[in-house]
Parts: sequence; C-alpha cells; structure tokens
Amino acid sequence: MKSRQISRFAWRHYCDASLSIRWLTRLRPAICPLEVVAESVPVGARVLDVGCGAGLLLSWLVESRSLASGVGIDLSQRAIEIAKSATSDSRLRFEVRRTQEPWPVGPFDVVTLVDVLHHVEPNRQRAFVKRIGEINPKRVILKDLDPRPRWKAWMNALHDFLMTRRRVYPRKMTEVAAWLAEDGFNVVRVERLDRLWYSHYLIEATRTTSPSAD
Ligand SMILES: C[S@@+](CC[C@H](N)C(=O)[O-])C[C@H]1O[C@@H](n2cnc3c(N)ncnc32)[C@H](O)[C@@H]1O
Repeated sequence: MKSRQISRFAWRHYCDASLSIRWLTRLRPAICPLEVVAESVPVGARVLDVGCGAGLLLSWLVESRSLASGVGIDLSQRAIEIAKSATSDSRLRFEVRRTQEPWPVGPFDVVTLVDVLHHVEPNRQRAFVKRIGEINPKRVILKDLDPRPRWKAWMNALHDFLMTRRRVYPRKMTEVAAWLAEDGFNVVRVERLDRLWYSHYLIEATRTTSPSAD
C-alpha cells in the first residue's frame, strides 16, 4: 500500500528530527490520503505546496514523481526549519510565508494545498481560494476536510485542537469546488476520501489559459 511506503519514507527522511516529529510524520499518511494527492501530481512538475508543514509531501514527490522543483511555504518557522533540515535536495526550497503575503515567484505547474483551508478564518477563505488563481497554475490539488457528517467534523476539530490549540473552520467540498469553477478553473475531480473519522475530500482543478483581466 502506497500510504505505508510514504510512512516508511517519512521515518527515514526525518531521521535527524526529534522522535515526536518522526512519529508524527510517520503516522500522517495513515490518517491523511497523501498518496492520492501525490498520484495526482504529474511526473516532473514544478510544484508550490501552500501550508507545507514539515515538507513531507514535497520530499515524497521528489522521490516518487521526480519533481522538477518544489517550493513549500508555511507560516510556521519551526515547520520550515524541520523541512529544511530534512533535505539537501537542490530542487526543493522552503520559506516562512503566510498565505496572505505575496506568493513566491514561479512558474508553478501545480499548486497543492493539503489541510490548510480549514485553518483559514471563514471570512477569509473565499479570498484565499481566489488568490490561488494569481499563481496561474495548470493544476490545483486541494485536500481538505468537510463539515459533514457533523460527528466527523467534531472529531477533526478535536484532533486539530489537541495538535494546535486552535479552532478550525471546515468548508463544504461542493462550495470550494464551485469557487474554483467561478475563478475559471475546470474542476475535474471532487471526491470524498474518508479515512477513519476524518472527512477528507480532494478537489482537482485545471486551467489551460490564464483568465483575462476584467
Ligand atoms: C494540518 S497542517 C498540514 C501540513 C501539510 N500540508 C501536511 O499535509 O502535512 C496545516 C499547515 O498549514 C499552515 N498554515 C495555516 N494557515 C496558514 C497561513 N495562513 N499561511 C501559511 N501557512 C498556514 C500551518 O502552519 C500548518 O503547517
């Protein structure tokens, strides 16, 4: 199973990190369908991973999808330090940056966003999704958590509260897909990928030309 491969990779990749980070990254693929996200990334792509955390996805993409380049951004300095110290691959770059700040300079073929949107406050989520269009990627791969069923949303919220001591704001999969369509993307996949009590969903959207300015 691919998720186990990613777990084993994480254990090796973060060999110099603390034991808690090694275990957290090792367990992440068991609860989050990173392998489905990874398989949606074309081989040899240039990827921007927004809210990259400790950089597991990008490092796995280098291993499994031969990325041409990968840039990971996250507001957490600690996460970026872990990401940087785990790799010396010249194709990867990690930066402390909030999603509200200007995007890194591309070009990027693919933008990945894994479990970031539900950390953005509800009144900023629409603008956040709209800004993805500024990067002008050919493909957006957005993995997040749905607020339904309600009991799963509670379990997700509890998990996030225990991990970060912060509230989360899951947004409906159908609403996020509709936003991307409004922004000129062709939504090619909208799929629930529930795992344990986590109400995961994946949205894949493509765009062949940049929308005309109006
Ligand atoms: C649940 S973690 C997911 C990390 C990684 N994408 C993964 O799947 O392992 C969410 C990440 O989003 C980051 N994040 C949340 N809000 C952000 C923002 N406004 N700008 C940049 N990063 C943000 C957090 O610091 C955290 O590392």
